[in-house]
This record gives sequence, C-alpha cells and structure tokens, in this order.
Amino acid sequence: MAPETSTAPTTTPTTGPTTGPTTAPDAAPGGAPAGTAIGIDIGGSGIKGAPVDLATGEFSAERIRIPTPQPSTPDAVSRVVKQIVDQICADLPDGGAGVPVGITFPAVIQHGVARTAANVDKGWVDYDVATLMTAVTGHPVHVVNDADAAGVAEARYGAARGVKGVVVLATLGTGIGTAVMVDGALLPNTELGHLEVDGHDAETRASDAARERDDLSWSHWAKRLNKYFSTLEALLWPDLIVVGGGVSKKSEKFLPELRLRTPIVPAQLLNSAGIVGAAVLAAEDRR
Ligand code: BGC
Repeated sequence: MAPETSTAPTTTPTTGPTTGPTTAPDAAPGGAPAGTAIGIDIGGSGIKGAPVDLATGEFSAERIRIPTPQPSTPDAVSRVVKQIVDQICADLPDGGAGVPVGITFPAVIQHGVARTAANVDKGWVDYDVATLMTAVTGHPVHVVNDADAAGVAEARYGAARGVKGVVVLATLGTGIGTAVMVDGALLPNTELGHLEVDGHDAETRASDAARERDDLSWSHWAKRLNKYFSTLEALLWPDLIVVGGGVSKKSEKFLPELRLRTPIVPAQLLNSAGIVGAAVLAAEDRR
C-alpha cells in the first residue's frame, strides 16, 4: 500500500460547486465496479482520503491525512474535505472532474443526513451532510456511517469476501461501530455497539478506548469482548464476525481467548477499509 502523506490544514475558503464531464464506472467481475472513486474517512482526530482503484480495492495514490479541525463544525470539516478532494483530483485524468466521492462519518446517516454525532461536533445532528459536501466539493457525494463503509470494504475485498449469510463487522476503537451484511448486502445504520450488556452501553466497556482507559490486560479485555459478542450472537446468529479497528492488528492477543459459537476473524483492510468502502458505495450510487 502507498505510504501516507500528512498535510497541514489550510484556511482556504470554500468555493461553489464545479461541474464537468462524468465517467460512470462499469461493472467488473465479482460485483465490484471498475474505475476510480475517491474515499474520505472523517474521524474524531483525522480526516483521511485517497483515490481507490475499484477493481482491486487498493489506493491508486498516497493517502492524505489532515487533523480534524477543532471544533469539528460542518463548515470547518467541509473545508478540509474539499482540500483533500482537490489535492487528490489534481493528479487524476481531467482533474478528476465528476469522479464520485464517498465520505464516512462517525454517525447514523439516513439518506445523507446525520442523525447522531460520535466524537464530532454536535452541530452535525440532523445536518444534511450529503448536500453540503456535494456543494462544497462539486462532486457527486455519497455519505455513509464509518463502520458500514468498513463492512462493505471487507465484504468486497477482505475478510468477508464471498461469504454467504449474515456477517457482522465490529470496529473496536473509541467506540464500537457495527455493520451487518446479508449475502454481501448492507443493512445500514445498525448501532449494535450500543447494546446494553450488564446494564452498560457496551462500547463504554468493550471498546479499545475502554481497554486503554481501564488499563486492562489482553485477557481481561477479552472477557469483556466475549460477553459483548455472546450477547450479539444470541440476538443475530451471524455466520461470521469480523473484528476491525486499529487494534485488530493485534488480534492474536485477544481473538484466541474468545469462546463463541460464531467464527471470528480480524479485518484484512485495516485502516484503509473506511476509505475503500465509501468509494465503492459512491461509485455504485451513480449507476
Ligand atoms: C457510533 C457509531 C459509529 C461508531 C464508530 C459509535 O459510538 O454510535 O455510529 O459507527 O461509534 O465510530
């Protein structure tokens, strides 16, 4: 995978929408659309973006990362998104005119509108993120929950590729995000990180942030995870669970300790999953 570049935030004012020729992607074998789409991953600490080769699910240029502005208001965040999109497009044929842009957001996203806001400014609640980002970037935009994007990427190119039946992806990070797929098709906005387990919102006990905050050993944390995933599997009976988030790089420290009836595997795309899944959904949105 291409190395990452970091870019300092700028205060470039946003300009109005631009228009240009569009190139609709063709279908490639395996159901993934061909061509290029841009993926942008908005998180509490960083906003990351890259062009994605949809035939392979790989970045076709270096990933760009800019720290999330604080406060992370719609105006400030959309400026950074525009900066990243413009920088990526400068190296694409035709200046990237009309290339679809997929954007992940750490919130419930109903038809482009944020309904919650985890680790970002509460001013996003009930904000039409898709309309804002389309106007600011001048590109067709698809906005999706961050875990849903990661689930789609794993289903197309990673640990859940070709898996039939019900797959649950759980990203263990600051919170717990979930994606549920049935035969590869996404059921959007499942918020199963907030299942109540032992009277607690599960993500406050079993996220990676909870592991660090409570200074837990791997096996102590694994016990909490086991309880969380047992609750989840009793409700959904998935065929496969995929564990994502940065900590999945260390899955050998905790996955072998879990005693579940469902097979559980680490994600394969790791920190590219959000960008890749958002790009796929943006490309498909245009067909
Ligand atoms: C939010 C989800 C989000 C997850 C990961 C949770 O707290 O409710 O919408 O996917 O964090 O960012």
